[in-house]
Amino acid sequence: MPHDLSEALDALRPLLLDLDTLVRGIGSGRRRNLAPSCRRVDLRPVDLRGGRFLQLVTSDDDGPPRTRNVPVGPEAEEAVEALLAEPFGNWHVETLDRIVQLRVTKRGQAQVHSTRTSRRDVAPSSHDRVRQHLLPPDDPLFSALGADADKRRQVDAFLRHLAAVVRPPEPGRPLRVVDLGCGNAYLTFAAHRWLGDRFDRVRTIGVDVRADSVERNTRLAAELGMPDLSFVASSIDEAELPAGPDDGAVDLVLALHACDTATDQALARAVRWRAGVVLAAPCCHHDLQRQLTVARSAGHRPPSPFGVLTRHPILRERLADVLTDAVRAELLDLLGYRTEVVEFVDSRHTPRNVLLRAVRSATGEPRRSHREYLDLVTAWGVRPALAGLLGDEVAAVLAADPEAGR
Ligand SMILES: C[S@@+](CC[C@H](N)C(=O)[O-])C[C@H]1O[C@@H](n2cnc3c(N)ncnc32)[C@H](O)[C@@H]1O
Repeated sequence: MPHDLSEALDALRPLLLDLDTLVRGIGSGRRRNLAPSCRRVDLRPVDLRGGRFLQLVTSDDDGPPRTRNVPVGPEAEEAVEALLAEPFGNWHVETLDRIVQLRVTKRGQAQVHSTRTSRRDVAPSSHDRVRQHLLPPDDPLFSALGADADKRRQVDAFLRHLAAVVRPPEPGRPLRVVDLGCGNAYLTFAAHRWLGDRFDRVRTIGVDVRADSVERNTRLAAELGMPDLSFVASSIDEAELPAGPDDGAVDLVLALHACDTATDQALARAVRWRAGVVLAAPCCHHDLQRQLTVARSAGHRPPSPFGVLTRHPILRERLADVLTDAVRAELLDLLGYRTEVVEFVDSRHTPRNVLLRAVRSATGEPRRSHREYLDLVTAWGVRPALAGLLGDEVAAVLAADPEAGR
């Protein structure tokens, strides 16, 4: 039943300001024809040296999230007041004993859903102590999937990056998520669950070439009661996504450790789908390792003194890793994305801990000239798999670049 919006927001205020019981609050989305000053804000209590603070993390489409720790008292009250006045379309507030979800309707009223819960497991976060998990490692979902401790950590760390960049879909259609090279689908299930708690409707599709994995994952999704999570047995570059009547574009593409050039296939599909957000943690990088070896044997030398970097096989291997991901990031930027290359989890949990985090810009315009990209591949004598897969798109960008003739 719709409620008066200002009364419903008033009811959130004490929940957000009680730092002994608040687990977290999230303001996100936008009201009809209005734009909040940031895309999303996350609030949670943190224990720092000076005592307990309210931590506010604001995220936007451009640039990294901004964090502010506000002391309890008038400053926190003022900050919460200002945030409640922002025209966010949704509020999600979790305390130790309840979860309140508020959605602003097209008519400017509030739909409020409140459920009882018991979160006695959650202690206020401290920067020096335990971090709060997005999906706790003891979540029964992980046991049902058979994920070990390292995989649970990887998935949680991956979700943190996803949380920082995911955007709500256009009104009236579900958020569409595709996990390419999903394997046993730990990430697919976890992302579907986590996103499903935040957005009205989420449809997730896992793709893997292995039919036995797809069969297992499909069975588990049915057992766990997740009808909007489905799986397709196919290679990434040929996968056909099942389309429901209300399915639109692909919003979010995930690829966690898809082998070698399967990551390139995933990135190429994401670009062609014009996915809003792409998160890909690459696995092995054999393609450019082979190409560097072949180029060296054929007498190709990068400009002096960089030939030294390919003289020793182990260094050549490591250089290929860096070169592959540098080229991928560069190509994504040329094709309209804003790409960051970051470590998504501590290397103790996996040495394959690099993440390409790409968000499609509003205009889809290249981020910079293609010149550095061309110089890079020419210097090393390589033709990256992604450039081959997206040959037409790359050629179109080069043709349109005012520096192309220089
Ligand atoms: C290292 S596993 C990672 C699985 C999962 N993403 C995870 O992190 O647990 C790589 C998966 O990619 C799949 N794969 C490799 N190449 C593929 C391709 N071209 N198309 C579809 N799946 C592929 C493999 O079958 C395997 O399940």
